[in-house]
Amino acid sequence: MNMLLLNGPNLNRLGKREPHIYGNETLEMIENRLKSLASQHGFDLQCFQSNHEGELVDRIHLAEDEGCDGIILNPGAFTHYSYAIRDAIASVAVPVIEVHLSNIHKREEFRHTSVLAAECEGQIAGFGSYGYEMAFYSFLHRFKRGME
Ligand code: DQA
Repeated sequence: MNMLLLNGPNLNRLGKREPHIYGNETLEMIENRLKSLASQHGFDLQCFQSNHEGELVDRIHLAEDEGCDGIILNPGAFTHYSYAIRDAIASVAVPVIEVHLSNIHKREEFRHTSVLAAECEGQIAGFGSYGYEMAFYSFLHRFKRGME
């Protein structure tokens, strides 16, 4: 089983960026933790981060072409307005779980809307970097059930 951890704009700044909102961990720390969690469960986890909408669209398409079984996606600010990423999610059969470190619903009003959520399996928000693990466990549960 293969999974993709996909992070959008400004998430390469984690650790330095508004730590009171996003925490002190760097993206590299989060990626390494997720990779080792995945390998403990016999999964291959690839990681990709981009500040560019088109690169995220391309990576979602590639995930399907590579036979990826699930995408854990933090789209950053694209969450709130990217119809291109929404259409990319809709264009592949790979299930996507949307993750946010912060609880977008208790922040500024423009963050309350996700234009992507309706194309995702679900949304996890407000649990810091543990949200990525929650998404991983959700896929794990789903894949195990599928194999029974
Ligand atoms: C975020 C929330 C978004 O509103 C913001 O633009 C981000 C990070 C989060 O993880 O909480 O870049 O996706």
